[in-house]
Parts: sequence; C-alpha cells; structure tokens
Amino acid sequence: MSFVWSDENLQMIESLKKRYPKPQALVLPLLWMAHYQEGYISLDAIDAIALVSMLPPMEVYRVATFYTMFHLAPIGKYHLQVCKTLSCTLCGKEDILKSIQELLKIEVGQTTPDNLFTLSQVECLGSCGTSPVVQINDTYYENLTPQSIAEIIKGLK
Ligand code: FES
Repeated sequence: MSFVWSDENLQMIESLKKRYPKPQALVLPLLWMAHYQEGYISLDAIDAIALVSMLPPMEVYRVATFYTMFHLAPIGKYHLQVCKTLSCTLCGKEDILKSIQELLKIEVGQTTPDNLFTLSQVECLGSCGTSPVVQINDTYYENLTPQSIAEIIKGLK
C-alpha cells in the first residue's frame, strides 16, 4: 500500500473517531481527507479508508464513485467546473464554456497537457442568482462573462 496518511490527517482521524462512534460513519470525511492529500482518491487510499472505517474496500469504492466530486484518477491542478443547469444556460453558459475551450484548447472531460487545468460540466452549483457560475477548485466565480473567465484563468497560470 503506497498511500500513507499525513501526520495532520492521522491526528484528524483520531479526533474524528471521538466524534463518530461508528467507524463506518468516517467514510465521507476520510474520502475528503484523502482527496485533499493526494489530489484524487487512489485505490491505495480506498484500502486505507477501508481499514479505518472497518468496511470492505468495495463499499468505500462504491461511496467514492457515487459522488461526482471525488476523482479516482489525477486531474489538473485547477479543476474548472462549469454549471450546465438552467439558470446558467439561460445566462450564457455556452459562451463561458466556449471561452474556456478556446483559451485552454481542451474539451469537456480533458486536462491540458501541462496538467494545470481539467474542464468539467456539472449540475447546478446552487448559486443560480449569480449565474453563470464556474467553480474552480473550492472557489465560486459568479456573474461571469467570456472575458472575465478568460482573465481569471490567465491569473491562475
Ligand atoms: S443553474 Fe447554475 S448555479 Fe444553479
């Protein structure tokens, strides 16, 4: 097993064990911790999570694959998630997406060759009042225009 919890995460696990009396309840927090530690969830991390949560690795895998926010393979340093639901579509999502694709020269589901950017489309990000919205890693960028999203991306490089 090549996945090893960081010291910080080991401390967090001990703290979480006191909060959750059943180890199975640790699965989601552990998935997040592994995701932030590695940038994705490897099969070795699944095994490590299974060990702590006392679940079969397949159960952990099933949870990890249920949620679209968990990645089971490495992605770019910046994950651009373009909302594709109604409000964002009505407010210009297609133009935002086109601007990103032209700038980065990738399609949805692809990563730039330098591994900086991965482009995805996602369902409603829950910020319909500020459409169109793109989530980049943990940050929302709202009321976007094709020009503003291009400037934001250039600022990330
Ligand atoms: S439709 Fe895009 S945030 Fe809700």
